[in-house]
Amino acid sequence: MTKQIHLAAHFPGVNNTTVWSDPESRSQIDFASFRHLADTAERGTFDFFFLAEGLRLREVKGRIHDLDVVGRPESLTVLSALAAVTTHLGLAATVNSTFNEPYELAKRLATLDHLSGGRAAWNVVTSWDAFTGENFRRGGYLDKADRYVRAQEALRVVRKLWDSWSSELVLDQDGGVFAREGAGAFADEGAHFNIRGRFGLPPSPQGHPVVIQAGDSDQGRDFAAEGADVIFSRHGSFEAGQAFYKDVKARLPQYGRSEDSLKIMPAVTVVVADNDREAADKAQYIREQQVSGPTAIVLAELLWGRDLSSYDPDGPLPAEDPVVGSAVTQGRVGYNDPAPIVAEWRAQAEAHGWSLRQTVINQQNRQTFIGSPSTVAAAMNRHVQEDAADGFVLVPHLTPGGLDDFVDSVVPLLRDRGVLRSEYTGTTLRHHLGLDA
Ligand SMILES: Cc1cc2nc3c(=O)[nH]c(=O)nc-3n(C[C@H](O)[C@H](O)[C@H](O)COP(=O)(O)O)c2cc1C
Repeated sequence: MTKQIHLAAHFPGVNNTTVWSDPESRSQIDFASFRHLADTAERGTFDFFFLAEGLRLREVKGRIHDLDVVGRPESLTVLSALAAVTTHLGLAATVNSTFNEPYELAKRLATLDHLSGGRAAWNVVTSWDAFTGENFRRGGYLDKADRYVRAQEALRVVRKLWDSWSSELVLDQDGGVFAREGAGAFADEGAHFNIRGRFGLPPSPQGHPVVIQAGDSDQGRDFAAEGADVIFSRHGSFEAGQAFYKDVKARLPQYGRSEDSLKIMPAVTVVVADNDREAADKAQYIREQQVSGPTAIVLAELLWGRDLSSYDPDGPLPAEDPVVGSAVTQGRVGYNDPAPIVAEWRAQAEAHGWSLRQTVINQQNRQTFIGSPSTVAAAMNRHVQEDAADGFVLVPHLTPGGLDDFVDSVVPLLRDRGVLRSEYTGTTLRHHLGLDA
């Protein structure tokens, strides 16, 4: 059976994917920027618009790295504003389960679902680190080992709150009754939460807003297999995508779930031009913009866990061994086991005669789909039909116009192939994703 491709638009915000120094780059904060990308995604009949989250400015050696674009408004506030100017596009907010309480999570997400007519999604992230925790009342907050224990409990309790009105909902204007006695009552006792009370909102259009998971560990994959509707993965290449897809889908039966109930959508980038040659040149140019000399050093410091400021980015790779668990870089997901990656970088640098910067460019900034519109459409479709993904979260390098050319040139070809809708057939995000209500 021909699978339909699910598409989402990622508003970049941080990371060196974004080329904020490009003359076409606009604000990461102005509403006009969010609206432009959302309008483009809706024109392309995408499933949803996606906002990531960072709860503390990242630091390198105690300083903010000025090429790591900062400034990220609160996701649910931005998405609420977008709900008013879009009609069908799903609205996905990344909100951390470690630093929030279930009651406020349930309320904020149900509110977005109400305001948008059933288009809300929650990307449950589990960053736990003490560096981020310093911004919060309880400091360090959580052991790493407990990040998914808390996430699992938070998700279970949030769903309990969403269900808490159930059949008690009435609206009897003549009788002067809005809700019967008992509506919204909840109580829950667990390792992380011991709460009881009443939830303040009747069921939202989707009942349960869509749940997305982004995290790569074994525990993260199990958490997704047990309770998520979508995984936002980092495995965008064909081979890594197929391996990840197989692994995660094989975990579903033990939770009594079918393969179709969990959609896998890796983050990918697209470089499209009139023909394959031009696209390859453009891709090379973008990679060089994304990894300036200082950015190459910062990314190498994340891998090596060492201060490498004395190194020339256009010279050879550092000779030292990497340090595990270093605090040189704070606020980014680091490497659990850097040694084999450093060995691979060294082998590739030697084989190709690459400098440190060239190695970072070639090893890290892989662009997923490069080519003419027809080359890109064919490759994306192959990924989906051959189970390397169910769809993609597109991460543009320019904000906010970075998906304009994709929607104008590739989307029509996907529609011609019959693998992407030409218009929305339903109103809720669950419907777009083909998930049970
Ligand atoms: C593709 C992807 C996107 C992520 N986006 C965010 C994010 O926006 N905010 C955040 O705090 N963590 C984000 N994370 C981090 C995860 O939530 C998680 O904390 C981290 O990966 C550690 O969990 P793990 O050990 O299961 O990988 C992301 C992870 C992945 C793989």
